[in-house]
Amino acid sequence: MTKLLGKVALVTGASRGVGRAIARRLAKDGMAVVLLARGAEALHAAAREIEEAGGHALATPADVADPIAVEQAVAAAEARFGGLDVLINNAGISLAGPSADYPLEHWQQVLATNLTGAFVCSRAAYPAFKRRGSGQIIAIDSGAGRQGYPRMAAYSASKFGLIGLMQALAAEWGPEQIKVSTILPGSILTDFGGRSTADRAHSGTKFIAPEDVAEAVVYLLKQPARAWTQEMNLWPF
Ligand SMILES: NC(=O)c1ccc[n+]([C@@H]2O[C@H](COP(=O)([O-])OP(=O)(O)OC[C@H]3O[C@@H](n4cnc5c(N)ncnc54)[C@H](OP(=O)(O)O)[C@@H]3O)[C@@H](O)[C@H]2O)c1
Repeated sequence: MTKLLGKVALVTGASRGVGRAIARRLAKDGMAVVLLARGAEALHAAAREIEEAGGHALATPADVADPIAVEQAVAAAEARFGGLDVLINNAGISLAGPSADYPLEHWQQVLATNLTGAFVCSRAAYPAFKRRGSGQIIAIDSGAGRQGYPRMAAYSASKFGLIGLMQALAAEWGPEQIKVSTILPGSILTDFGGRSTADRAHSGTKFIAPEDVAEAVVYLLKQPARAWTQEMNLWPF
């Protein structure tokens, strides 16, 4: 508990699924959490749930690909909690479909959210980390960031790109005491990709729970300053 107590984390995609589980888990360990997603109502409900459980949470509705809105969220985090220590680049979408007639707008939306969004959020967090003297970024990638799958060209491209982005930031910002890690999970039981949790649960696929990803995040945050897990593969077993 003591290592994270009083620290401040911005979690993107925190209104449901993995991001919500991460925010809840970090708050349980005493971190102040700033929740970011587009839909304000679900986001405020997620923040309220944390506050009602005795935690500290702030809802900052924004699109991860909107630099001005994201900068405002970082400013709100610093104003309310006095700084920013951790960024969780979790927000992500999947729009599956055959590549031959895949709409360009879908391609652009997936890349904007999963890849550009992570860049925008990391860049917005950087000055706040510099003011703190250190920082930590954890991206929630996917097995599809290592292996391309049919009907998932945009998603795979975005997640391959996210690994490259995080590797570049790790190399560039590591010397400035900003630790950058990537978690590559397999299937997680959430409403991801337009399919309900109930529907996915009956698909015959094995899943991990959102809480398993949250535990992995806590593990990375609690590692000693001298230790760096660059990438973590987290599969259903
Ligand atoms: N579920 C899986 O099987 C699985 C497997 C491997 C990796 N992942 C990765 O895990 C991460 C979380 O997935 P999940 O399963 O928790 O998905 P989810 O249940 O669909 O939740 C996605 C979250 O991201 C937010 N979001 C989407 N687009 C956004 C945008 N442009 N700006 C800000 N927030 C945005 C959503 O809220 P709004 O829609 O209100 O913005 C929501 O809070 C994603 O990066 C995903 O690629 C998931």
